[in-house]
Amino acid sequence: MKWLISARLQSGDGGIRVTRTLGAMEFNKIAGGLLGSLLLLMVVSIVGDTLYPRFGQGHGEGGEEAAMAYVVEVTETAGTAEAAAEEPLGVRLAAADAANGEKVAKKCASCHTFDAGGANKVGPNLRDIVGAPRAHAAGFPYSDAIIGLGGTWGYDELDQYLTSPKKYAPGTKMTFAGLKNAKDRADLIAYLATVTTAPPPPPAP
Ligand code: HEC
Repeated sequence: MKWLISARLQSGDGGIRVTRTLGAMEFNKIAGGLLGSLLLLMVVSIVGDTLYPRFGQGHGEGGEEAAMAYVVEVTETAGTAEAAAEEPLGVRLAAADAANGEKVAKKCASCHTFDAGGANKVGPNLRDIVGAPRAHAAGFPYSDAIIGLGGTWGYDELDQYLTSPKKYAPGTKMTFAGLKNAKDRADLIAYLATVTTAPPPPPAP
């Protein structure tokens, strides 16, 4: 089989005359290249359809179902965000694990004691802290930040102080970053209540 294609270029007045003949080999190369591109396009299109099925394709129902699948996805994301938001303290306390709280309290132990008559260290002894007046430990040199708060250490106040001491009582001497985990905080406060002789009733869930 012979493919002979000639292209003839003429320029101006009898000037250059170019005659080009494409041999069979060359033509095959070009045709092969075109076919190859077509094949690639088909593969891309098939793979694309597999990865991103058109609405209604491959499902019993139409595009609406596919659209709803997206809505569900968005709802799930919102649900995760909601779960990350904190539950009210009453709910957390009702489910609190004081034994875990005692473990969390190890983070406080470098500065605080929890036993009756325990010494003030870097921070004051924390026996009977739940419901106690602020600056409750006799003889501890509290900062004005804590003294100035007035009132008592109720469950909510402890929860807020322990989230971020600096934010709750700007200028406090307690150089503790805070417990960001809301469950750990509730567990810890439940533990503090167990080392308090007569803790006030916890907030209702
Ligand atoms: C790096 C030392 C340090 C650590 C760790 C620490 N505290 Fe304190 N804490 C202090 C100091 C110092 C004060 C006194 C704050 C002031 O006067 O401003 C204080 C005060 C307090 C008070 C107020 C007591 C009162 O009588 O008014 C509470 C409650 C408290 N800490 C709880 C905790 C708990 C619970 C933890 C562990 C999660 C903890 N602290 C970790 C140093 C610490």
